[in-house]
Amino acid sequence: MSRELMLENIRKAQKEIEEKKEQVKRGAMRQHYHFMPQTGWLNDPNGLIYFRGKYHLFYQYNPYYGFWDYIHWGHAVSEDMVHWEFLPLALAPSESYDDYVRGGCFSGSAIEHEGKLFLIYTGAANHGNGNEQTQCIAYSEDGIHFEKYEGNPVLKAPKGVPSSQFRDPKVWKHEDTYYMVCGASRENKAQVLLYRSKDMFHWEYVNVLAESRGEWGFMWECPDFYQLGDKYVLTVSPMGAGEHTAIYFVGDFEYHTGKFIYHTVGEIDWGLDYYAPQSFLTADGRRVMIGWANEWEWMSSWKDWGPTYKEGWCGFYSIPREVRLMEDYTLQFIPIEELRMLRTGGEKKEEMVISPDGRELSAGDGIAFEMKMKVLLEQTDAESLELCLRCGNGKQLLCMFDFKHAEIIIDRNQADGWSKGSSRSAFKISGKKELDIHIFSDKSSVEIFTDQYQNNHSNNIFAQDMQNHIHICTHGGNALIKEFEAYGIKKIM
Ligand code: FRU
Repeated sequence: MSRELMLENIRKAQKEIEEKKEQVKRGAMRQHYHFMPQTGWLNDPNGLIYFRGKYHLFYQYNPYYGFWDYIHWGHAVSEDMVHWEFLPLALAPSESYDDYVRGGCFSGSAIEHEGKLFLIYTGAANHGNGNEQTQCIAYSEDGIHFEKYEGNPVLKAPKGVPSSQFRDPKVWKHEDTYYMVCGASRENKAQVLLYRSKDMFHWEYVNVLAESRGEWGFMWECPDFYQLGDKYVLTVSPMGAGEHTAIYFVGDFEYHTGKFIYHTVGEIDWGLDYYAPQSFLTADGRRVMIGWANEWEWMSSWKDWGPTYKEGWCGFYSIPREVRLMEDYTLQFIPIEELRMLRTGGEKKEEMVISPDGRELSAGDGIAFEMKMKVLLEQTDAESLELCLRCGNGKQLLCMFDFKHAEIIIDRNQADGWSKGSSRSAFKISGKKELDIHIFSDKSSVEIFTDQYQNNHSNNIFAQDMQNHIHICTHGGNALIKEFEAYGIKKIM
């Protein structure tokens, strides 16, 4: 009976998508190469997995309109993590444990078990006593049509953890045991709880894998945990940690004690629009991460989710980034090499001196483009380098690389007449010979990677097509740039 209800809800949603998708596709703010929903609202990436020769991407999804509500799981597959094909929705709210209108099938992960594709997600319900979040399972023989486990939920909040703060299970297998990390809050401090299971259905609590003593907020959403080289990486999206919205911990982990001792903490992305990343292993063993390019209303920099709801949609993902471990155990987040297949044209300059007079740069159509360069710091006496992207009609996204104050500032206050705020980060300058900059611009977003892909800023802007100029200049001296490269990027969405 309830199996029918989920199918019915999926059919209803598919009908809605079919009816609206062509119109939504024509929206002027649609991205050219970033993954986004056919209609409606999207947030966290879920269930990332390489399964039977394809990359599967599930996503938090409300097919009906461009705001968060009544969450389903959308589903798409890809052979290269760049071109995506939409499949029927995987999950729809249908059961007493996941059918709340302001809830549904919340975030989770995917894993192969006994030849089937398993989804482990948070059921979000409300029966009058506040939000009730429990961990639930659905599975599929063909990787397309899913059925919820009749014994759901398989896990409830432990004592001391409010049922409204227990979500986003990420599952993996080690030897013959399954492990799960889950985001939680206890006494107003964020935690990641570790569980284990032999059969996927019965879960045993192991311990607190990591926790905030207050410095990293009161709740960690969307934890992810994996081995990288000879270390382990925990990533979380903290609530209540100010401008830190996607952080990583690197350390040592032992399966037999369940203890994770971290020694290195860092920021995945300093931009205003980067949250809830999840990772998967590629066929050739790379660790690739995808994040949701937006923010929540509880964040300090939040203004709104952008104007795209007027076109019947909202939300897209960051470009996939490969996670790499550096010698000092900090992490790099590098755009996957598959993105190069989208390059068009190409312009290279071995060396350029940039002065306060400035100059125009060209990269593709000035809207969807990729641009790379290195600033030679020893041959640069400027106090700062100013890069204006999407300029035109008196508007621009202002990117300041301030060498005097060792700061990067991406200011979108004049970007489009809509967006507000600026993202900022410090960068280590002493002893450095160069600052590398790598930019991916799309119709409605700009992702900036700097300092060996360790200091990154993802920001959305909703600029018009006439904003297609790129201008560069310095302040207080000259800057020497080398290895400048620029490309257009094909429209594939
Ligand atoms: C993170 C999050 C998750 C939750 C989901 C609901 O963005 O709040 O914690 O599962 O979104 O859509």
